[in-house]
Amino acid sequence: MIGKAVDPAHLQAQDARRWDPLSPAPGFAARADRSSAGLGPAPSASGVAARGVGGQGAGTDRLGSGAGLHRDAAQIEARGIWMEFATREGGHVVLSDVDVAVPRGSFVSVIGPSGCGKSTLLKILSGLLEPTAGEATIAGKPAPEAMRRREVGVVFQRATLLPWRRAVANASLLTEIGGRRGGGRRGQGAAREMLELVGLADAADKLPSELSGGMEQRVAIARALALDPEILLMDEPFGALDAITRERMNHSLLEIWARTAKTVVLVTHGISEAVFMSDQICVMGTEPGRILERLEVDLPRPRTEETIENPRFAEYERHLRSLLISGSAEGRS
Ligand SMILES: Nc1ncnc2c1ncn2[C@@H]1O[C@H](COP(=O)(O)OP(=O)(O)O)[C@@H](O)[C@H]1O
Ligand SMILES: [Mg+2]
Repeated sequence: MIGKAVDPAHLQAQDARRWDPLSPAPGFAARADRSSAGLGPAPSASGVAARGVGGQGAGTDRLGSGAGLHRDAAQIEARGIWMEFATREGGHVVLSDVDVAVPRGSFVSVIGPSGCGKSTLLKILSGLLEPTAGEATIAGKPAPEAMRRREVGVVFQRATLLPWRRAVANASLLTEIGGRRGGGRRGQGAAREMLELVGLADAADKLPSELSGGMEQRVAIARALALDPEILLMDEPFGALDAITRERMNHSLLEIWARTAKTVVLVTHGISEAVFMSDQICVMGTEPGRILERLEVDLPRPRTEETIENPRFAEYERHLRSLLISGSAEGRS
C-alpha cells in the first residue's frame, strides 16, 4: 500500500501535496488541495505542534516540557515565490509558485534533483536573494531584514574559512563584524562554546589547513551558531564529506538542534538523511523548480539506530525515491 507507485498524473499538477503513510485512504487526489498543503498557519504547522504536545514529537522530547515555544506558528514563510533569471534567450524560470511554511523549532528538509532551485530557494529564505515575485518572511518580517539583524545563520556547502584565522577566530568572525549579541569577548566566548558543541573544543587553536573537511564544516556551523540565531539554514553542508563522517555529522546536527531549540532548514540530496532528520520534507521537481509534495515524517524522536529499523522509515524512503525519479523524468521531458 505504502510503497505503491506514484501516479505520474499527480505530478503534472502544480499543486503541492502531502503524503502520509498512515492515512487510511492514501491517494493523492484526496489530499491535493493547497489549503491542506502546509501553507500559512496550517496543518503542517499544527501537525508538528500536535506531536510536541502529544509527547512523542521533537518539542517534547528535546526540550522537556516544550513550554514557551509557539510551535503552532510558521516562523519561516515563503508565499508565491517566482524566480526568473535573465538569460540570452530571454529568461529562465527557476522557481515557480513555491510556498513554504516552516514551524518554529521544527526541522525541515528540502530535497530535489540538481538544478531544481534548492539553493536559490534557500538564498531567498535567508534574504540574500530577492525573488522576482512573492515574499519570504521570518517571524512576519521580510527575510532581508531578518538577515540584516543577524537572526538567521546560514551554512553553505563550502566552509569558506579564512585560512589565516584559527578555528576559534573563524567561528567568532560574524559576531566580531557586528553580531546581534555583540562581538569582542562575548564573541570569542560564544565561539568557543559553539566549537565545543560541534565537538571541536580541542581544535579551537588550529588553522584551517590543519583541519579535515568535516572539521572545517563544523567550524562553519559553529560560526553560524555563535550568532545565536533562532534559525539555521543549511545548503548541503555535508555534501563533500565521506559517508561515515556525514553520518556522524547528521547525528551531531540533530543533537545541536535538540540542545539549542533552533528552527532548521536543510537542503540535501540524501533521501535517508532527509527522513532521518526531518519533521517535514519539501520535495522539489525541476523545470521549473516547484514543490511536488510536503511529506510529514511521523517517526518518534529522538531518532536513533532504531528509527532506521522502523518499517515506516523504509516506506518513507521508497516513497521519496519514486517521487524524485518521476519528478526528474518529467523535468527532462
Ligand atoms: N545567478 C544566477 N543566474 C542565472 N541562473 C542561475 C543563477 N543561480 C542559479 N541559476 C540557475 O538556476 C537553476 C537552479 O539553480 P540552483 O538553485 O543552484 O539549483 P540546486 O541548488 O537545486 O542544484 C539552475 O539552472 C542554475 O543554473
Ligand atoms: Mg544547490
